[in-house]
Amino acid sequence: MVPTAENHDVVIIGGGPAGYAAALYGASAGLDIAMVEKAKVGGTCLHAGCIPAKELLETAAVRRAIVGSARFGLATSEPVLDFSVTQQRKQQVIDELFTGLSGLLERRKVTVYDGVGSLHADHLVRVRGGASGEVELHGTHVLLASGSVPRTIPGFEVDGSRVITSDELLSLQKLPASAVVIGGGAIGCEFASMMADLGTEVTILEALPKILPGCDDDITRVVLRSFKSRGIDVRTGVSVHGHEPHDWDGGTKVRFGDGESLDVETVVVSVGRRPLSDELGLDGTKVEVTDRGHVVVDDWCRTAEPGVYALGDLIATPALAHVGFAEGILVVQDILGEDPVPVDYGRVPWCIYCHPEVSFVGHSEASAKDAGFEVVVSKHRFTGNGRAKILGETEGMVKVIAEKRPDGTGGRLLGVHMVGPWVTEQLGQAYLAVNWEANVEEVAQFIQPHPSLSELFGESVLALTGRSLHA
Ligand code: NAI
Repeated sequence: MVPTAENHDVVIIGGGPAGYAAALYGASAGLDIAMVEKAKVGGTCLHAGCIPAKELLETAAVRRAIVGSARFGLATSEPVLDFSVTQQRKQQVIDELFTGLSGLLERRKVTVYDGVGSLHADHLVRVRGGASGEVELHGTHVLLASGSVPRTIPGFEVDGSRVITSDELLSLQKLPASAVVIGGGAIGCEFASMMADLGTEVTILEALPKILPGCDDDITRVVLRSFKSRGIDVRTGVSVHGHEPHDWDGGTKVRFGDGESLDVETVVVSVGRRPLSDELGLDGTKVEVTDRGHVVVDDWCRTAEPGVYALGDLIATPALAHVGFAEGILVVQDILGEDPVPVDYGRVPWCIYCHPEVSFVGHSEASAKDAGFEVVVSKHRFTGNGRAKILGETEGMVKVIAEKRPDGTGGRLLGVHMVGPWVTEQLGQAYLAVNWEANVEEVAQFIQPHPSLSELFGESVLALTGRSLHA
């Protein structure tokens, strides 16, 4: 231990969801915690990711509700968008959550240092370049949770106006009239959906044969149909070559595919995120980093340096805030010697907040078959669901994938995939069922409230017993 360094049970580098979850949970278990953050606690999720993105998507949802209100007998005039007000509201939501989180950390006596943290030999953490000045800390345990930043691609250097990433898009004061979104993953589809619903002409250019990697094909088809009906042009299997800025306005010409091009105001690059391990130091430690920048860990997030853990987007696990929370809890339990069960990464909840929403847990039909399972599948659409009809949102379905029994009925639930109204809020019971490895009949006997959107999940599972009600 360095004699001058202040000692803590745990020193955490990075105050995003993984880091602050470990801090809050560890402090609630009585550990003395210090956290180093170079920007604001809350990380990408709170300041430039999940929270602002979903808040802007909610603006799009409100607009859709107003535009569709005549069906309910409520006559309105065409809504007029003032995106600067939208941005103010978004910032207010962020600020309130930031104040809440900061207060929580303070009450749990987590010491937060402002600066860039780096790890050196013997668990020494140096803090530099922020309001806390130059500080040396020693952690009995050190957690690396420095997160990730948007990936970029050659030929599309980010300039903050013509070419932007999620970081800039979430702070625009005015939406572009037209945009190309490069990458049809979760971020690309959420932004495409939001912008199109608020009046931007959107084209998605995706390199792979399909958008939304990881989603079941039936679910993706529903999203594609909806995107098409709302004017979003989705081109898959195309490569992008570069762009030439216009000299007559602020726009640019995007070159892609086989000699094709498109003139747009803005290019949004959403081709994934890369782990931010660049500033971690790590000299004199055994911590390993892959060519892609991920810190190498075992199933309990332990690095090769005893007492040093890595978690969140910095490691090669699903880059989701709630996975970061789970890893934060896991690491603290491991530090406390509680022999925790590792995170089952194949069965974490996925939620994509585009319109229509998508959520899933566990195997898709294709991945279950690839894994060697004989499966039975139950698919039911929201068109027959009473609550969906009341809401006027019948687009979408629930698809349940179960192991096939010799008599043809369903056994253990392997996966549940949903698309449609509020499915991100409906995944909970499917998540529990799949992770508890429940059988179809065990889940089917539970009652779903009526009328509710979640009845569709219950009915889809019931149908796999060989008998059914409405479905
Ligand atoms: P992603 O990895 O999910 O999707 C990126 C997409 O870009 C892929 O479909 C990929 O094939 C495509 N792509 C890559 N290079 C390309 C190129 N040169 N031209 C055209 N297409 C190209 O990454 P995304 O959407 O940027 O999200 C980053 C991370 O954040 C992901 O791990 C995601 O899970 C997470 N995230 C999750 C959200 C959610 O669950 N609601 C929301 C936002 C982000």
